[in-house]
Amino acid sequence: MALPVVVDAEYLKEVDKARRDLRALIANRNCAPLMLRLAWHDAGTYDAKTKTGGPNGSIRNEEEYSHGANNGLKKAIDFCEEVKEKHPKITYADLYQLAGVVAVEVTGGPTIDFAPGRRDSKISPNEGRLPDAKKGVSHLHDIFYRMGLTDRDIVALSGGHTLGRAHPERSGFDGPWTEDPLKFDNSYFVELLKEDSAGLLKLPTDKALLEDAEFRRYVELYAKDEDAFFRDYAESHKKLSELGFVPS
Ligand code: HEM
Repeated sequence: MALPVVVDAEYLKEVDKARRDLRALIANRNCAPLMLRLAWHDAGTYDAKTKTGGPNGSIRNEEEYSHGANNGLKKAIDFCEEVKEKHPKITYADLYQLAGVVAVEVTGGPTIDFAPGRRDSKISPNEGRLPDAKKGVSHLHDIFYRMGLTDRDIVALSGGHTLGRAHPERSGFDGPWTEDPLKFDNSYFVELLKEDSAGLLKLPTDKALLEDAEFRRYVELYAKDEDAFFRDYAESHKKLSELGFVPS
């Protein structure tokens, strides 16, 4: 078991400096989408029953970043290592989640409250805990309920696809979800509701959000009310970033 992380004034000061460094790094490398995906993939392995996986930095282990679902994320891990070298006190688990929060912030998204103190783990979960983009509603239920998240969390967090794109060499899918993949807004939901969004990507799991009545209710709300999306997204992202972690 890793030692508890002591979040004292010095630790908080380092978090503040790392936040600044991450802002600069993300601007220079244009890598906000990749950093958000890194934070999500470290956290999204959580299993509420066994209390394993989750935002514990284990994605840095080769065994885990070489899982198929994590294709392309080694680059984000290496970017974060540059920040870790300057602020070695900060755990990888905190650093990856901070990177996700900063990625949303600098692309125009909501401010997400960040509480530090996550422990690092050297133990990686088995492959297969992250969602499979080729599947549908019941798979999304299985994966996100396992984490302890709700239908509203599933839809709000799927709005993370407002950023970035799919790469054929990473996932086999291709293209962005929105016209401006470096801007965090509610356009993912606006495009999802359009019958024809020529040139834009809709994964089977994105389309599944229209098939389930409970999911669709939130898609329609977020498409017409960006404030509602930002409010719910900030709450769900915080939950995701704190799965299995109780801030002191
Ligand atoms: C990219 C699947 C949920 C954030 C991708 C890609 C796939 C995928 C296949 C393309 C990867 C590539 O080819 O580079 C899924 C599935 C989800 C899901 C099946 C289930 C609901 C989420 C969530 C977030 C997120 C919850 C964040 C809150 C991203 C981002 C990218 C991405 C930002 C773009 C990365 C880049 O541009 O390099 N996702 N995702 N995804 N995902 Fe998801």
